[in-house]
Amino acid sequence: MKFKLITPNAPEYVAERYLRWEILAKPYGMPPGSEAQQEEMQSLHLIALDGKKLVGCICFNAEGSHSGRIFAMAVSEEYQGRAFGRKLVQALEEQLILRNICDVYLYTRPEGEEFYARLGYLPAGDGIVQMGVLQKMMKKNLRVDHVLKP
Ligand SMILES: CC(C)(COP(=O)(O)OP(=O)(O)OC[C@H]1O[C@@H](n2cnc3c(N)ncnc32)[C@H](O)[C@@H]1OP(=O)(O)O)[C@@H](O)C(=O)NCCC(=O)NCCS
Repeated sequence: MKFKLITPNAPEYVAERYLRWEILAKPYGMPPGSEAQQEEMQSLHLIALDGKKLVGCICFNAEGSHSGRIFAMAVSEEYQGRAFGRKLVQALEEQLILRNICDVYLYTRPEGEEFYARLGYLPAGDGIVQMGVLQKMMKKNLRVDHVLKP
């Protein structure tokens, strides 16, 4: 498994978009293209590769110099439950710490809440409704987490 930071100009971006549609939008009956997010052209994109196959992705959009939002987290169905999601989040967090970003938040569907809770994310605020589903807001302070790590 290899992790790689890419930009929307990279050849892997098309596969990243397809994975996001397949995992995050298609199950809700949403058409290809609906996975797009306005801020993604300026965001960090981290992908997970098994050989040449793109099997996971996660994005981050900075909001100010020390904070921002994680979004578009997806692991290919056949790779789910094998710790790739955990490793992807941790690899992104390492990149963010290097960039002096310490306050991160995200919105997750109810089924993703436990996954993020196990990675140290805490419920925060009311959340938003997207595609008719309540997305819970969760947040994490990476500095605190980093300092507390043995
Ligand atoms: C949610 C998702 C990103 C997790 O990635 P993954 O590679 O399957 O998860 P991991 O194997 O790294 O799991 C890490 C930990 O979270 C737990 N976990 C993962 N998915 C979980 C879920 N849906 N419910 C409860 N716990 C979960 C695992 O049991 C594991 O716990 P442990 O380390 O204490 O044993 C991935 O399954 C996915 O893309 N799912 C479909 C889309 C989705 O639900 N996105 C999130 C909400 S928007």
